[in-house]
Amino acid sequence: MERTFAIIKPDAVAQSYTGQILAMVEGAGFRVVGLRKTRLSEAQAKAFYAVHAERPFYAGLVTFMTEGPVVVMVLEKEGAIAAWRALMGATNPANAAEGTIRKKFAENVERNCVHGSDAPETAAAEIPFFFAASELL
Ligand code: RTP
Ligand code: MG
Repeated sequence: MERTFAIIKPDAVAQSYTGQILAMVEGAGFRVVGLRKTRLSEAQAKAFYAVHAERPFYAGLVTFMTEGPVVVMVLEKEGAIAAWRALMGATNPANAAEGTIRKKFAENVERNCVHGSDAPETAAAEIPFFFAASELL
């Protein structure tokens, strides 16, 4: 069994899409092993997306990710990392496939509703960024 890290971003939480996204997660066979509502500090958002620090969209991304509460989750399934990226859909919802979360709910390439780890090493770093081992059940 593989684990991945997911965020329901501030745009989706504010528009009350949390329940519908969780239903899609469970409907796709993921087990939710950790879940918490929180609000990222500027320092947390900067550190979490540090890989994008040199990109032109970094400052906007940090502002967006701190504008309101998020839901952070750890999801478990065989091939969870790729399966969650597939359910999320392409970064730009204009390119996202039918049936994906971003196709259904996202506004644009920045306000795109969900995050997912993109590799095993990323998941291994992102999960403990938000969860203690004792919170994963
Ligand atoms: P994420 O890391 O949030 O799961 O998204 P991703 O892998 O699909 O996309 P990534 O390239 O890692 O970009 C991280 C997030 O930055 C915002 N973004 N804005 N304005 C832009 O051109 C732009 N490009 C990316 C999005 O919120 C994207 O999910
Ligand atoms: Mg990414």
